[in-house]
Amino acid sequence: MPDHQLFVNPLKTCLAILLMSGIISILSAEDREEHERHDGRGGKKSSRTLYKEIPPAVSRTVSFTNDVKPILLENCTRCHGVKKQKAELRLDTKEGILAGSEDGPIIKPGKGEASLLVRSIAGVGVESDQVMPPKDDMLTKDEIGIIRAWIDQGAKFDGK
Ligand code: HEC
Repeated sequence: MPDHQLFVNPLKTCLAILLMSGIISILSAEDREEHERHDGRGGKKSSRTLYKEIPPAVSRTVSFTNDVKPILLENCTRCHGVKKQKAELRLDTKEGILAGSEDGPIIKPGKGEASLLVRSIAGVGVESDQVMPPKDDMLTKDEIGIIRAWIDQGAKFDGK
């Protein structure tokens, strides 16, 4: 029996233990890496607080040009604009917003809470890799409320 021999020879036993602990640590390191890769943000994301529910729509009438566009320009268009189109999505133009992402439409006019755009910025009802923006702090309640209200109010594009 190899088992028997293993314990008779101290040197072999030592080597076997070293080998096994080496394998175990390699395996668990791979496990951790896998986790970080899924997380995709080097642990940073977990320090962001996702909203438990989608923040309510603001109660005033909102304008795309004056209220919504500045939020998108500030937080989103460096990845969804001229230079980069992550998920094939552009948020810097009316056409881009209406075209949606590689997965399809991101807004359902009249239904802010059901729109992927709103869900992704609240981090509610989406996959963890769909939470936007991916690394930075979440948008504020008010900013999400503005975008939600804009879609609730018909997602109209005033001006340019
Ligand atoms: C640092 C780059 C970056 C920033 C900034 C960013 N995104 Fe994204 N966005 C991505 C990536 C990458 C994906 C693809 C995620 C995936 O599906 O794995 C994505 C996907 C999306 C999707 C589509 C999800 C889908 O599954 O179709 C929406 C909607 C979206 N982003 C909205 C936003 C909004 C709104 C902002 C600003 C508040 C924003 N993003 C900021 C990188 C970014």
